[in-house]
Amino acid sequence: MYDWLNRLPKAELHMHLEGSLEPELLFTLARRNAIDLPWAGVEQLRDAYAFNNLQEFLDLYYQGADVLRTEQDFYDLTWAYLLKCQAQNVVHTEPFYDPQTHTERGIPFEVALNGISQALQDGRKQLGISSGLILSFLRHLPEEEALKTLKQAMPYRDTFFAVGLDSSEMGHPPSKFQRVFEQARGEGFAAVAHAGEEGPPEYIWEALDLLKVSRIDHGVRATEDPKLIDRLIEEQIPLTVCPLSNTKLCVFDDMAEHPILELLERGVKVTVNSDDPAYFGGYVTENFMALHDSLGMTREQAQRLAQNSLDARMAP
Ligand code: HPA
Ligand code: ZN
Repeated sequence: MYDWLNRLPKAELHMHLEGSLEPELLFTLARRNAIDLPWAGVEQLRDAYAFNNLQEFLDLYYQGADVLRTEQDFYDLTWAYLLKCQAQNVVHTEPFYDPQTHTERGIPFEVALNGISQALQDGRKQLGISSGLILSFLRHLPEEEALKTLKQAMPYRDTFFAVGLDSSEMGHPPSKFQRVFEQARGEGFAAVAHAGEEGPPEYIWEALDLLKVSRIDHGVRATEDPKLIDRLIEEQIPLTVCPLSNTKLCVFDDMAEHPILELLERGVKVTVNSDDPAYFGGYVTENFMALHDSLGMTREQAQRLAQNSLDARMAP
């Protein structure tokens, strides 16, 4: 089954480049940049990947991202992910990156963006993988910072096609970012947002009605609101669901409780994605495989999920 799932042509629509930083590359970049790490080695770092919630993960994710310093570092990070895409027949990808994670620690805005966009361009030419980058705002920071980030990005507007919203969800509702999303949409960018991962269904309503997003990232807590489910079905709004992430961050105690296949059968446009593959135990194929192992996903269901991901692409 693994090989069959691996060969299935698919798109990935929810993957944070900083979350694809494997421990081996993290240690390589730390050595290259002469950075001392608090972990003795790769094994000890992997052992730290045990999380009770989103925030515990984010603390380690931001700490890990500190080894990314040069354009080449961001290029190598992105290229390693694209090779994974090639190995798993991900023919199209729309990854996120968080500019503020890097500018906040003194890395010039263009360093991360240049390295990432050069690798994505090489991926198109050398690997035949189409892609579009999503510039994602950190929701734990004030909206003013997001507005500044959008302004910084404007000279590079051809390198990304959409804006997103990620980081700590609780207490940071989409309504906090209404102005910056309006501005981004006014500039012609598509919009997506994380909502309903840990946050309540109200945050999904807000993402749709106030931020006017075309896709919801995660969205699994929509199951608590029948009216919302009806709307997602009626408008065929894609949900970029991340099963291994949801169990690793204890959104669900066990994969057997994951609602993705019920949502699929009800007609919600759900897709399968890896979120932060280096931290959550696998890339897209491993996420599909977990659904087969724990929920009895059939080949026919896998085909529909993969087709949904291709249908929900937005990058030009
Ligand atoms: N949720 C919110 N923010 C994130 C995530 C996530 O799953 N991964 C990286 N940043
Ligand atoms: Zn995410």
